[in-house]
Amino acid sequence: MRNLLIIFGLVFSINNYCQKNESLALTPPMAWNTFNTFAGNFNEKLIREMADIIVSSGMKDAGYTYIIIDDNWTGNRDSLGFLTVDKSRFPSGMEAMSEYIHSKGLKLGLYSDAGYKTCGGYTSSRGHEFQDAIMFARWGADYLKYDWCNADDINAKGAYTTMRDAIYASKRPMIFSLCEWGNNKPWEWATTIGHLWRTTGDICNCWSCTEDYGTYKKYGVMTIFDMQDGLRQYAGPGHWNDPDMLEVGNGKLTAGENRAHFSMWSMIAAPLIAGNDLRKMTKEILEILTNREVIAIDQDSLGIQGFKQEKIDSLEIWYKPLKGGDWALCFLNRGFKAAAIEYDWKKQVVVDKVFKLEPRFDQIRYVIRDLWLKKNIGLTDKTFKTIIPSHDVLMLRLIK
Ligand code: GLA
Repeated sequence: MRNLLIIFGLVFSINNYCQKNESLALTPPMAWNTFNTFAGNFNEKLIREMADIIVSSGMKDAGYTYIIIDDNWTGNRDSLGFLTVDKSRFPSGMEAMSEYIHSKGLKLGLYSDAGYKTCGGYTSSRGHEFQDAIMFARWGADYLKYDWCNADDINAKGAYTTMRDAIYASKRPMIFSLCEWGNNKPWEWATTIGHLWRTTGDICNCWSCTEDYGTYKKYGVMTIFDMQDGLRQYAGPGHWNDPDMLEVGNGKLTAGENRAHFSMWSMIAAPLIAGNDLRKMTKEILEILTNREVIAIDQDSLGIQGFKQEKIDSLEIWYKPLKGGDWALCFLNRGFKAAAIEYDWKKQVVVDKVFKLEPRFDQIRYVIRDLWLKKNIGLTDKTFKTIIPSHDVLMLRLIK
């Protein structure tokens, strides 16, 4: 009996120990991250400025909560092996940075890597996972992005589980973002380990392209988007597919392409992680990033990733079921010419085969709301005629 109790106790404590912090990302995380624009060119002054603008621009109110300091911030280890911060970038220290971010009502995201060095060649966590998690917790981190450079020889599930356990043991709840680029199919094993996992290599700033750097490649917005195919059944509240950060406002996409990028990330319930220079953000870009009706599609509490219903030439038609019986519907024109459409609702047989939901246009008349015009534009009892410009979207909410 005594032995049985000991075994029960052991199993209970192991189970208790090995968990991720639940309930931290019931909807996809929303953040601003240093990497897409600044790579290694940032310091505490710049991050304070970004925090200020996130608040003053209304981005915080629209839902952007985390400021993530990506690669290039770690210093050496101290004599006891604890991680330090690069003093040349953060002369006031990470505690002061964290206090500043928290004083604005925002949360702090930090970055490390499962290998010996980060992708930028800085100190990372291999062999120091528990010690680093303690430091992240002391610094008040609320989010950890954990990269995969210089980690080829280790087991991904094991490495990410170790860091998950280290975070849990630190007793500070942190969103845990796996960034192993989909190499080991994290969607198949990471639901109990992290809150989001990258599904691909890095995004780059173009509509549709591949940049080849020899040992790795970067992909444009639509190229990355296509790589999300077949993954929707793995996403849900607390565990999201991450098709990488937004390139919205980074200067190379047209207004329509920026809108389409933001819309499609929302249609597939992607984390919305802005990476633009907020000091140079135009009104148009701010309006895209803070369109609350589009954000509401991304953040819908049902947490179901949308699906492609149909493709007519270069026009894709995407559906996303929403809480309470509404649906999001997005026409994405990937072609070089405007696309005209006559959409007869009664003829549409739309079925979400994975989540077993159907809009049933033969039985329900929906109000059609255009989420970029922010206007109701009709009902689903009449054929819908419209023209969608090249590289742009028409994004609708069908209200029950
Ligand atoms: C990898 C990641 C990126 C970014 C860089 C930093 O490439 O995938 O998102 O974190 O490292 O060096």
